[in-house]
Amino acid sequence: MEVKRESWGTRFGFVLAAAGSAVGLGNIWRFPYLTGENGGSAFILIYLVFVFLIGLSVMIAEFALGRNSGLSAVGAVKSYSDRWTFVGVMGVLSAFLIMGFYPVVGGWALAYIFESFAGLYTRTPEAIDQAFGTFITGTARPIIWMLIFLGMNIIIVAKGIKGGIEQAARVLMPTLFILLIFISIRSVTLEGAGAGVDFLFRPDFSEVNGGTFLAALGQAFFSLSLGMGAMITYGSYLSKKETIPQNALIVTGLDVGVALLAGIAMFPALFAFGMEPAQGPGLVFVVIPIVFSQMGGLGIIFGIIFFVSLAVAALTSSISLLEVVASYLIDQKNVKRKTAVYSTGVLMAFMGVLTSLSLGVFDPLPTLNVGFFDLFDILSDKVFLGFGGMFIAVITGWVANKEVLREELTNEGTTDFVLFEAWHFLIKWIIPPAVAIVAVFGILDIEETAVMIFGLAIIAVLAIFSRKLD
Ligand code: PHE
Repeated sequence: MEVKRESWGTRFGFVLAAAGSAVGLGNIWRFPYLTGENGGSAFILIYLVFVFLIGLSVMIAEFALGRNSGLSAVGAVKSYSDRWTFVGVMGVLSAFLIMGFYPVVGGWALAYIFESFAGLYTRTPEAIDQAFGTFITGTARPIIWMLIFLGMNIIIVAKGIKGGIEQAARVLMPTLFILLIFISIRSVTLEGAGAGVDFLFRPDFSEVNGGTFLAALGQAFFSLSLGMGAMITYGSYLSKKETIPQNALIVTGLDVGVALLAGIAMFPALFAFGMEPAQGPGLVFVVIPIVFSQMGGLGIIFGIIFFVSLAVAALTSSISLLEVVASYLIDQKNVKRKTAVYSTGVLMAFMGVLTSLSLGVFDPLPTLNVGFFDLFDILSDKVFLGFGGMFIAVITGWVANKEVLREELTNEGTTDFVLFEAWHFLIKWIIPPAVAIVAVFGILDIEETAVMIFGLAIIAVLAIFSRKLD
């Protein structure tokens, strides 16, 4: 059956949407703080190797599976064999897990737009640091901002994702890019910035262990929106005229570019102000405002633009997460778009409340020994995305027909993909064992062993009952 699928209006529309999904809090919030916690440039190097050796290939695979089947995550993998339905279901679950914490951080970005007006940049560095801690451990305020951020997602996805958000992203994504360049220049020219530049570019492998590799792999998948079907879903809307490898390369390049820029914007300043690199999740919300506070009157203008564009970057990512769940309910369960989005939204709001409170009033969960924030974070990017990416590679390399893939990736032989054989070899022989090895060594080193085992158990159960899922 020929499935008629709406597709992106223009080439630019697709790249923008896919890059919009990829570039988000993962690049500007998560990448810098992971780099800080994992010792700097050695982590960055490992991350870059994973991005280009594993991530890029998996992205090509996801676009190909999506466009070839014309279906979103679950339907696409199932169309190859129902043995693999569970991989799509893992993707839907990953979307839920990530949306359990993403809107909380998105809400922080929204709140900081208003903090920018309220004199944030006139405070001392210590006061800026303290204000952030007080804010996120509070009760009502972060929850309200989370709900506003989630509400924006719900409105956009309920309408279908081609509307106003494309317009907003078209303007604000380039703005964010330019702004990061500005901040980077300010940051590296601060007195004492040299130590930060060293931290970013002089690799020190003495602290590297299995946990570092696992964190870098999880970040590569998270940042590129891979391993859970978002790019399969977006690929299913991709026009047959477009060349997949080229689009994948552009999206990956933009994503890495923004992450590195975010690092350059933050670390030199951080060292110049004598702060610790292992700041954790507060990094961007503390260091960037401190940089702005050194800019006099300009600080407030930069601050407002920065947090507006951060919120929009987050929004173009989170709508792709919500879309994975919605398109699953629409395609596989015949649910109406609005019903799908509203019911999913209510569940996500509930998770967001738990996550937000886990930073303040809640105690860690028994047995697992982490709060909801860490639980959702570790389960998604250290377990589900990596294994999801591994299974997607297995389906592409071992189940899908190689010649069909060749046709798909060369548009029936009308365009070149000279690296097709190399790509197929990587997907079939290298990526599955590589991900498995990183996962095993990661589990041995990570502190949150209980969470990892819990995640693996969920995957095992889903895999066993794969044929019963749909
Ligand atoms: N890539 C997004 C970011 O970096 C997060 C994301 C992950 C979006 C997985 C969709 C799917 O912020």
